[in-house]
Amino acid sequence: MRAAWLTPLGVVVASAGVLGSAPACTDDASCKAKMQSLTGRLDELRDEMRGKHLTLQALEEIRGGIMSGRRVELPSAQRQHLEKGSPLISEVTFDARHRPVSTNVSRHFQEVRTIAPDIEVRLHGFLSLKRSSPGSSKNSIPALLILISTTSQLAIFNLDGEALLEDFDLGHGAGRQVVQMELSPSQDNHFVLTVDDQGGIRVHNLKIIAKRAEKQGEEEEKATPQKFVRTLNVTANLSAAFTLSPGALAEARKLNAVLPIERGAQTYFVAGDSLGGISVFYRNGTMKGRVRVTEDTGGVKGLVRAQGQMVLFYSSHSFGFFSPSQVDVQYPPCTGWNSPLVDLALEPGYASGRVLLALADGDVIVFSTTRGKSKACDLTLKFPHVSTLPFKLYAFKGHVMALPSPLEDTPRKDEYLREIFFFNMAAMEHGYGSSPSRAVTLQASFKPKQPHALALIGQPATGQPGDKAKSQIAIRFAGIKGVELFDLTIRTPPPPKAALAEAGESDSWDLTAMLNWFPKVGVFGVALFGVVIWNIRKASGSGSSPSGEKETLFGDDFDEDLFKEKLRERRAKQKAEGSDAGSKGSMDLGQEDAD
Ligand SMILES: *[C@@H]1O[C@H](CO)[C@@H](O)[C@H](O)[C@H]1NC(C)=O
Ligand SMILES: *[C@@H]1O[C@H](CO)[C@@H](O)[C@H](O)[C@H]1NC(C)=O
Ligand SMILES: *[C@@H]1O[C@H](CO)[C@@H](O)[C@H](O)[C@H]1NC(C)=O
Ligand SMILES: *[C@@H]1O[C@H](CO)[C@@H](O)[C@H](O)[C@H]1NC(C)=O
Repeated sequence: MRAAWLTPLGVVVASAGVLGSAPACTDDASCKAKMQSLTGRLDELRDEMRGKHLTLQALEEIRGGIMSGRRVELPSAQRQHLEKGSPLISEVTFDARHRPVSTNVSRHFQEVRTIAPDIEVRLHGFLSLKRSSPGSSKNSIPALLILISTTSQLAIFNLDGEALLEDFDLGHGAGRQVVQMELSPSQDNHFVLTVDDQGGIRVHNLKIIAKRAEKQGEEEEKATPQKFVRTLNVTANLSAAFTLSPGALAEARKLNAVLPIERGAQTYFVAGDSLGGISVFYRNGTMKGRVRVTEDTGGVKGLVRAQGQMVLFYSSHSFGFFSPSQVDVQYPPCTGWNSPLVDLALEPGYASGRVLLALADGDVIVFSTTRGKSKACDLTLKFPHVSTLPFKLYAFKGHVMALPSPLEDTPRKDEYLREIFFFNMAAMEHGYGSSPSRAVTLQASFKPKQPHALALIGQPATGQPGDKAKSQIAIRFAGIKGVELFDLTIRTPPPPKAALAEAGESDSWDLTAMLNWFPKVGVFGVALFGVVIWNIRKASGSGSSPSGEKETLFGDDFDEDLFKEKLRERRAKQKAEGSDAGSKGSMDLGQEDAD
């Protein structure tokens, strides 16, 4: 240590001598100044050495971690610094401050089955069926899994893993690769929209018919649903094929994203292109109009369905709201970040009008798009920086799930361990103190498998006491055929404050806001019953709370009938009291948002 200390001193002295073309000090003042500058340099060196020492210590700790197979906790700054050097760092360390609350994958992901184990899947998604639809037994989510293979063929499976349609050629033509798939947003009218790498858009209608033995009648079926083996006959039929810009323009204008939108009986296809334009097409493929929405290079990079048939579009440095019926942008787009935007999602439930932006440097920032009744672009929150790769975001039942996804040009992109992060926004809003933040509820590693893409679906609860709404996740792993289906069990976190602030009542949580916060589908199986009841009591001040109440806060049981009854009670009470707290919005369950 002494030697190590002396050596730099020598260097300093030497360099001071070289640099110090300034003559040796002559008087008191100049000597003092010289001495000060020298000690200053020394301090710097000492800090540098201390930094190096810490780095060595961290590396030693990491080494120990690797040897013993556990992940090492590192301070945020250190981890972020080291991460820049190697993709391996994020794999063997946690951010000490944002250490995941759980890493237990088997507890939250129960493997159900592998679907289509013989198909090399390129794209996949869930198609929701009506609850009453044939083929859905009481315990399974009424949905089908739609797969596009690497050879651009369509396959459709039920969630039991039975093939309903296979090897269906989508007709994009030889040499073209399907790069995007979108499914019909409503459950009345099923279609699959596919986009190829040369801008061809094809829409296939799906006809889904139940096959049933003749003698098995409806009534009988209700009594013993599980005895019936019902299969679906699914057929696909081309309904429209079009391109963004036929002819000469095709070269210059590249199609980046397509989104189907349903507005009443009308279906539109909204397409964003590389020149910053958004085009709207009718169902039959005829163009309705096009408007330029951004000047950013790369143009419109993505489209997301928002409330009231609005579409959120984003480019590398802006996002905004687009109205397909008016073929125009509604408000000035929001801007103001440096790293390019790579993915965008709405806050789960989207009650607060907040939009989550995933940036190329791994940051996730949150913008509020409303302030009271007016429109806004306020940066309100930043996620903990726990990944150097940009996230692909999925808002689902109160959580924000995020999958680190390398960009095309990310160096050494195959070396990153890709884990699924579950973020809890309510925990972030409390701010980060000295204790671990609980912002990362779950960090799920499937090592050695690498999740490549995921799709989620939630079951609408049946409303029966004790009924649990089921959620399933279909994950496609890199280099593995088929997709793996898991039951996903994770507690729905409490809604973020912003969702509640909407209510205007500063202290008590407003039910309307609560209801809005729930996802529209699969709302009432979520386990927030306890919170609601707790707050109904709090708000109405009726009686003292039993002591065990807090424990049921996020319990697993949800009783929709009781919930409704409590709502009615509260409403009646408010009416009687002449309170206007409930007049802000209808509290009807299943209320729809106005356009
Ligand atoms: C993970 O969770 C399961 C089920 O809750 C439990 O049996 C198992 O012990 C847990 N594993 C770890 C490592 O905590
Ligand atoms: C499904 O229905 C079509 C007619 O709509 C029929 O041609 C086809 O054979 C049926 N498929 C199966 C597997 O029953
Ligand atoms: C597909 O559409 C064509 C023309 O509209 C029709 O003749 C044919 O029966 C349809 N096929 C199926 C399987 O629905
Ligand atoms: C497509 O639909 C639109 C509106 O429904 C209609 O105006 C147009 O004429 C149709 N085009 C073709 C080629 O059928």
